[in-house]
Order: sequence, then structure tokens, then C-alpha cells
Amino acid sequence: MIVLGIESSCDETAAAVVTDNGEILSNIILSQLEEHTPYGGVVPEIAARAHLDNMDRIIHTAIQEAGIALGDICGVAATCGPGLIGGLLVGAVSGKTLASILGKPFIAVNHLEGHALTPRLTDNLAFPFLLLLVSGGHSQILIVEGVGRYKRLGTTLDDAAGECFDKSAKILGLAFPGGPNVEKTAKNCRNPIAALKKFPLPTPMKGRQGCDFSFSGLKTAVRTCAQHELTQDEIADLCHSFQHSMSEVMADRCKNAIQFFLSHYKAETPTLVVAGGVSANLAIRSRLDDLTAKHNMRLYAPPLSLCGDNAAMIAWAGLEHLRLGYTSPLETKARPRWPLDPDAEKPHKSAKTSISR
Ligand code: KG4
Ligand code: ZN
Repeated sequence: MIVLGIESSCDETAAAVVTDNGEILSNIILSQLEEHTPYGGVVPEIAARAHLDNMDRIIHTAIQEAGIALGDICGVAATCGPGLIGGLLVGAVSGKTLASILGKPFIAVNHLEGHALTPRLTDNLAFPFLLLLVSGGHSQILIVEGVGRYKRLGTTLDDAAGECFDKSAKILGLAFPGGPNVEKTAKNCRNPIAALKKFPLPTPMKGRQGCDFSFSGLKTAVRTCAQHELTQDEIADLCHSFQHSMSEVMADRCKNAIQFFLSHYKAETPTLVVAGGVSANLAIRSRLDDLTAKHNMRLYAPPLSLCGDNAAMIAWAGLEHLRLGYTSPLETKARPRWPLDPDAEKPHKSAKTSISR
């Protein structure tokens, strides 16, 4: 089985060709970083136009690089949400048109499911597994029970983790996108212990029951520290302390989720997956590595090339649906908001009922 995947939910125009044995035949990503950098963030209208200008060429390149003919494709998968509506429309319409012309099924993919199922593309990971999904727009802990079957244990009450990285970076005068630049700058911290003493940032929600997050207080604390002008060394120290707080919070929230997962689910190799753009952060990975080792669990983090937005994960999620016989009608609409789990429309209900002790 060969599936073409299309991704355009934010600021990457991407197309990829993936087979059902997990081979990525091509994975083309065109970043719009240059277009958005002058504005310090993604401008939806600019993103939509850039997707429109480039989508045809990116799909063509993905097919060519895969060394296949269009007729070899068994289905076309496109991200239909969540994300910026302009970009979603470009990807969804491109995918539906191609599927319709080829007479092949169309599969509307939830972008978050693309991130969630990546460990099955690269490592054939079996269900169920625990997932920490941390990206620019989402911070959630979920149990992935199967394709399309997600149980949410926690979510953020305010900002997403990636959003907090990006906003804090902006406060510190670091270039967009903030996450990778905070990580890079933190590497210049010369004395990590002294840095934590100098900039003791909060660890919101740490020690509380459940698996919810809250990041806006962390961002505000960074703003308070940056009220006087900081030297380059101080910025590096602050980035280190920020990353430390992020890692501590994530490990603490995941600890509660692990206890719930291990007591309610049977998995041959119990695994915590960290996915989404923020999962590229090596300090966070390392903290989660320690945590999982303590609980005799495995930590899975995608290869760095598949942490950020890409179409290989969309093609794979489409393929997982297709082989179960799930396809989408061509009338399927793009959805700027599209939660993975059914409980998400009722905020925090699942977190409280499932993790009460
Ligand atoms: O999954 P993703 O590429 O796009 C969304 O679906 O949102 O995630 C993007 C987010 C951005 O907030 C970006 O700053 C963050 O992931 N990010 C990082 C790192 N690389 C990307 N955050 C922390 N450390 C990184 N190395
Ligand atoms: Zn993403």
C-alpha cells in the first residue's frame, strides 16, 4: 500500500509518500520561516498564500522523489485540522481533487493523530501507549488505545508548551521560532546550578493531582526577570532555568499519567511517547528518560526529522485508517478545531474522573 500525505496546517507546506511497511519514499517540507520571521510569528494570511503558491510543486516533487507514478497511490491523506483554516483548505482541496481525479480514497487526517502515530511508522509500536503531545498549539497527555481511540488524561488550562517557549523567547529577544532558539541559547549557560539560583522560575501544577498543565505563569515569570536589561550570559542562564522548569513540570505531570497507565492498561513494553514540535528538545527528552527508567518504562521520541510538522506522519496516519477501511467523503470539511478525544469538548472532565485517588 502506498499513500500520499499532505500537510499545510501551519507554516510548513509538505507532501510525502509512505508505504505500509513504514518506508518513507519521500518527505518534502517547505518551511515558510523566511516569510514569517519579520513578523515574529506565523501570519495566517501569508501562510495560506504561501501554501497556495507552493502546494502543487511540493506534491509533484514528493511523487517524483518517491520514484512512483500517480497511479501507484492507494489513497490520498491530507491534514483537515486542527490548524489555520486557510492552509487547511489548500491542503484539503488539493488532496480531495487528486483523490477524485485518480479515483482513489481520500482520508481526512487529524494533525495531532499524525504526531501520535509516528512511533508506529518508525518503530511499529503496539497499542496501547502513553502519549505526551507537546506542540505550538497543544499540550496534552493521552492514552493511545488504537487508531482513532484516544483517552485524554490532561491538557493545558492556558498556553501550550510550544507557545510558552515561543512567547518567552520573544520576551528575551530571541528570533522566531522560539523553541529551538531557547534550547540553543540554554547551551551557553556556564553554571547550571548557579543559573537556577539566580533565576528561580516557577513549576506550575507540579505536585498537584491529575495531568493538567498551566504555562502562562511561567511566561509571566520570564517577563518579570526580563524587566531590567539582561546580558547575553544572563539570557543563557534564564533559558536554562526555563527549560529546567518545563522539564520538571512535564516529568511531574507524566509521573501521574504513568501511574494511571500502568494500573489500568496492559502493554507488552509499557512506553511513554513524547511527540509534537517540542519533543525535539533534548533537555526535556533527557528528563523524561530518567522518569521512564524509574518506572521500568521505555521512552520513545521521534527522530528529530519527524518531530516538527511533516507530511510523512500524515501519510502514515492516513494509511493506518485506510487499512482499517476508514475513508472520508469528499464533502469532509476542514476543521480549525478538531480534538483528538471525544471528551475534549467538555474541558477537564476526563482528567478529573480518570485520575481521582
Ligand atoms: O508540532 P509543531 O511543529 O507545530 C504545531 O503543530 O504546532 O510544533 C511547533 C512548536 C513551536 O512552538 C516550536 O517553538 C516548538 O514546537 N519547538 C521546540 C523545539 N523545536 C520546536 N520547543 C522547544 N525545543 C525545541 N528544540
Ligand atoms: Zn504539529
